Amino acid sequence: MTIRILSDEMASRIAAGEVVERPASVVKELMENSIDAGASEIFVWLEKSGTDLIRVTDDGEGMAPADLALAVERHATSKLSEAEDLFCISTLGFRGEALPSIGSVAKMEIISRPLGATVGQRLRVDGGKKHDLQAAPTAHGTTIEIRDIFFNTPARRKFLKTPATELSHICDVLNRLALANPKVHFRLQHDGRTVADYVAVHDDKDRLHQVLGRDVAKGLLRFDWRNHESGELTVSGYLSSAPTAFPNARHLYTFVNTRFYMVTIPC
Ligand SMILES: Nc1ncnc2c1ncn2[C@@H]1O[C@H](COP(=O)(O)OP(=O)(O)OP(=O)(O)O)[C@@H](O)[C@H]1O
Ligand SMILES: [Mg+2]
Repeated sequence: MTIRILSDEMASRIAAGEVVERPASVVKELMENSIDAGASEIFVWLEKSGTDLIRVTDDGEGMAPADLALAVERHATSKLSEAEDLFCISTLGFRGEALPSIGSVAKMEIISRPLGATVGQRLRVDGGKKHDLQAAPTAHGTTIEIRDIFFNTPARRKFLKTPATELSHICDVLNRLALANPKVHFRLQHDGRTVADYVAVHDDKDRLHQVLGRDVAKGLLRFDWRNHESGELTVSGYLSSAPTAFPNARHLYTFVNTRFYMVTIPC
């Protein structure tokens, strides 16, 4: 047995399996980056349930050219600097893994312009191969396009489910992020059709109304619980007064510090 160290490209492609399982994982990572960038509008455009194209546009802080060139490298993040930062993470991302992973299993193009810059920059990464930065006119913020996901890992592409199932996973991700961030305007368009359009609202209840519909939202009861001894832990949420409307855990939405978790309840 001869042991050898994998090339960076192979290592990234294998590591990408942890981050990119299906188009919805890409949408989640890109939208989380937009939220971390302080965006107030996040628009997602899909073609063929995300297998042909995923485009996420935000009006967040954008990236300066040097940052953009670094953003697609592994372990490159602006969200952690000291080991102690791991104990007080306030962003959704922190690993510096998402963009390099996505770029290693798809064709990725990032266009970004920070506030105050007169022109934006475009960066392409195709299956892990990074091209040079080019100047590109764009509004401030960031647009990321992902084409042909898994074009170089056909076995993974084969395991994708039907287009309708992949789209429903994407809608679920968008809905969960939208519920946790009511002050952000989210829009999802698929093959030219608007699937969701949640304008920014100030009240959680209004976002519940947008995402779950009027009938479900009007039957929800708010609860708040605080640990009075330490004051550090608070639990709040909404309970449905019409439990028969939810025969399974599909409408169980759980968030810890605005990060959503999928909870599976054994039947
Ligand atoms: N939409 C965006 N707007 C502004 N900066 C961005 C955007 N997307 C990515 N970045 C920058 O690129 C860096 C790398 O992004 P990436 O998603 O790969 O890692 P991360 O968000 O730091 O951690 P994680 O891998 O856990 O998501 C981020 O730390 C951020 O500085
Ligand atoms: Mg990220």
